[in-house]
Amino acid sequence: MKAITLATLQAMKANREKFAVLTAYDASFAQQAEKAGIEVLLVGDSLGNVILGHNSTVPVSLADMLHHTAAVSRGNSKSLLIADLPYMTYATPEQAMENATRLMQSGAQVVKLEGGAWLEDTVRKLAERGVPVCAHLGLTPQSVHKLGGYKVQGKGEEAGQKMLDDALCLAAAGADLLVLECVPTALASKISDQLSIPVIGIGAGPGTDAQVLVVYDMLGLSPRVPRFTRNFLAETGSIQGAMEAYGEAVRNGTFPAPEHCFQ
Ligand code: KIV
Repeated sequence: MKAITLATLQAMKANREKFAVLTAYDASFAQQAEKAGIEVLLVGDSLGNVILGHNSTVPVSLADMLHHTAAVSRGNSKSLLIADLPYMTYATPEQAMENATRLMQSGAQVVKLEGGAWLEDTVRKLAERGVPVCAHLGLTPQSVHKLGGYKVQGKGEEAGQKMLDDALCLAAAGADLLVLECVPTALASKISDQLSIPVIGIGAGPGTDAQVLVVYDMLGLSPRVPRFTRNFLAETGSIQGAMEAYGEAVRNGTFPAPEHCFQ
């Protein structure tokens, strides 16, 4: 695999080629994923749940993210590396600049943040200063207490229109990528079609430009496996095989299947 850049992903979207994203939290898994040809690694703040044993991502600190981003970066050379800005580290544009700087200096190539149009100014400032940004809409786990649980978002015409407006606003402000989590399939397809930037779905149906899964979910290691995931380890018998099969299933459009989607 050649080193993946944002330009690679843009070209893949233009050519209607799908790409695969997996979370990674350490150097060994990063190496395995890169060897399996996974185009993008995400050091997700889901590490709060799957590595640190918290019951949400809210307790995850910037120090946690810096530590794991540096480890993944040491194990990776070719996949594009996104890292999450954790809870309340980007509440103002100034905080976002300072904390994104630290994530980038730990090895991130793109920073991800959760939220809608309120982030317009922050995304613009980061983009103007050369920091690539991945926005995240739909189920935004850092807001779980405000959302009242881990629920599908964007149901109904008004909520769907608001998500589309937020997506267009963040893309216009300079976001390079967008994650859509737990969104009805038709809405995620519509947003992906209307945006020129690549859209990465999780529980968002097959119409997005890419898919992301939490690596522990697709290996069947998480205690509660979400409906939108698939156990690729059970199918293949090895971690390397599971990652390769996942990448292949995303690229050939066999994952996600209807049972992984919300209508
Ligand atoms: O933290 C994470 O792993 C994420 C993905 C689920 C998109 O944000």
